Amino acid sequence: EMMREVSGINELEAKLKSLLHLQEIVIVPGNSDESPWVKEELGRATAQSMKQRLIGKNIIAVTGGSTMASVAKKLTPDFSKNETLFVPARGGIGEDVKNQANTICAKMAERTREKHRVLYVPDQVSKEVYQSFLKEPAIKEVLNLITSANIVLHGIGDAITMAERRKTDLEDFKKIQEGKAVGEAFGYYFDEEGKVVHKVATIGLQLEHLCEIPNVIAVAGGSSKAKAIQAYFKSAPHSTVLITDEGAAKQLLKGN
Ligand code: F6P
Repeated sequence: EMMREVSGINELEAKLKSLLHLQEIVIVPGNSDESPWVKEELGRATAQSMKQRLIGKNIIAVTGGSTMASVAKKLTPDFSKNETLFVPARGGIGEDVKNQANTICAKMAERTREKHRVLYVPDQVSKEVYQSFLKEPAIKEVLNLITSANIVLHGIGDAITMAERRKTDLEDFKKIQEGKAVGEAFGYYFDEEGKVVHKVATIGLQLEHLCEIPNVIAVAGGSSKAKAIQAYFKSAPHSTVLITDEGAAKQLLKGN
């Protein structure tokens, strides 16, 4: 705690809280764009924050991405005892296997010796296929688990970076570009004002569910994500706990 005061992290947290109108922010030292160990620190801080929020039985819905993967790495068998279920927050949104929510949930369950469920949904499906998917009992069951999660853990990314990483088709890419999207979370693309300009159509958690989830933890660091973080919090619930790094925090405060 003394180190945090000396290095000015506490002050940064206070400033960022008032800028983003959030109640709780954790900032880890460093910039994850520059040093890989910072992402590990984000993982460590997130694991701790999740642990503090556990209740009797837990359902934790998780998104994909490399930051979530680094959270998985920091989980240990003492996390909880036979009382946690990890579920992917949404169906496939175009990530590589290692970055997929299904993979990350499996890893989290393995590391904590807990359980997980998968949600296998093809990426680009027609409305008809989508509708019939929703009627499948096995899918329905996982969807019910997702919407009754007590903790949602998610990443935030830069819009264009994400659109490229997902190999978004030309039509959607244009929509994202022309809509001047700067941030992305859950497959939703936001402009600077926090308006959704594009949404990847998939099942699972929708943005409007978030306000009903008791604990939402967003994890995103690196100065390159400053704009994305700011845009996202223009529309995200203000009860969300943000776990970020000094790189993103300083960049965010600089631009305002
Ligand atoms: O695709 C899943 C996702 O959580 C996105 O919603 C988010 O923008 C991205 O991953 C973050 O990825 P990373 O942690 O690798 O920057």
